[in-house]
Amino acid sequence: MPFDHLIQNINLPDGTEGVDVGIREEKIIAVEKNLDAEASVTTDGSNCMLSPPFVDSHFHMDATLSLGLPRLNQSGTLLEGIQLWGELKPDLTQEAIKDRALRYCDLAVSQGLLAIRSHVDVCDSRLFAVEALLDVQNQVKPYLDLQLVAFPQDGFSRSENAETNLLKALDLGAEIVGGITHFERTMEDGRRSVDALCRIAAERGLMVDMHCDESDDPMSRHVESLASATLRFGLQGRVTGSHLTSMHSMDNYYVSKLIPLMAESGMHAIANPLINITIQGRQDVYPKRRGMTRVPELMSAGINVAFGHDCVMDPWYPLGSADMLEVASMGLHVAQMTGVEAMKSCFQAVTANAACIMNLEGYGIKPGCNADLVLLEARDPIEAIRLKAKRLMVMRRGKVIAETPSSPCSLNLETRRSELDRRFV
Ligand code: FE2
Repeated sequence: MPFDHLIQNINLPDGTEGVDVGIREEKIIAVEKNLDAEASVTTDGSNCMLSPPFVDSHFHMDATLSLGLPRLNQSGTLLEGIQLWGELKPDLTQEAIKDRALRYCDLAVSQGLLAIRSHVDVCDSRLFAVEALLDVQNQVKPYLDLQLVAFPQDGFSRSENAETNLLKALDLGAEIVGGITHFERTMEDGRRSVDALCRIAAERGLMVDMHCDESDDPMSRHVESLASATLRFGLQGRVTGSHLTSMHSMDNYYVSKLIPLMAESGMHAIANPLINITIQGRQDVYPKRRGMTRVPELMSAGINVAFGHDCVMDPWYPLGSADMLEVASMGLHVAQMTGVEAMKSCFQAVTANAACIMNLEGYGIKPGCNADLVLLEARDPIEAIRLKAKRLMVMRRGKVIAETPSSPCSLNLETRRSELDRRFV
């Protein structure tokens, strides 16, 4: 039986070289060398890598592309960002949120980013950001998986009606329980919020993803609380701690106890390198702390770690382009993960590890997996990160949904070559 699409002579992220991938009716049917079969469409993938799509497991879709509204963040700090978001909130409309989110999803698709977990603020009792993003989730479903976390951004115990609103958001269709431990008024309130939110998740059979200890406080203990609650409520494998930046500053002896506890609990971790490196350490003079959690040590302990984008052009971060290779590159640099295997694991952190956190079904490049694929103009994961490789072709369920032409640079240097492909410098 012929294939609908045959992609020939490609490399895979696991180091496999020169294989063909045959696709039929939304699925990958075969991954073999020299596949001998007819195909309606054939793509030559020589000197390219075929990857499953990029996955952003930590994002804020309700704020994205709002940069400059109502004004720019002059200091670039988290506090001014929070203030700005407060100023923007009364003027938010559902239509504006939907328009920006849909435009961001267009950008994401062009970058081969086909799954996003977004936190959505539930502290406004109108809950229209939740309603707007549920509508967007439905609209983008044919080409992008959007998961929504009910996120009590102003604090679960600190913000009036946060619990009622969070439960309503879950009833409306948000599928993950969020939290913000370090923003509660006291350490004890933070600990209680972890327990209350994990209890809600356990009772409803849901996953948890909390902003947990996004601070430079070496004494903060919410990561420990989250790991412990994960075990007590039987939520192993269903809980994610996002940011965990306090771990950067913690006492090393304490961390030597904490990481095994996290591993025992089966919790996942998400670092957000672009945001952590710019937001944390702001009250330091010199030396300034990097503020990203201990990624290589967490990975060595067997904890699943992903990198998220967190923000793109919003009150907290004026940059970004839905490019998960930029995220991987920043994570690699901040964590000093320049060893060969470490660099490869940074690619995993924006693909397979993040897909594991989102519990995506049919993800990967094996017979039987969904034909959701990205053809990158790079020969391996390290080259992809180095070049922020072009996404030549993006496929969803076997259908090509985005293409960017390969375009080598023309040089006019008299005695030198006339064309430059960045892969072969
Ligand atoms: Fe976040």
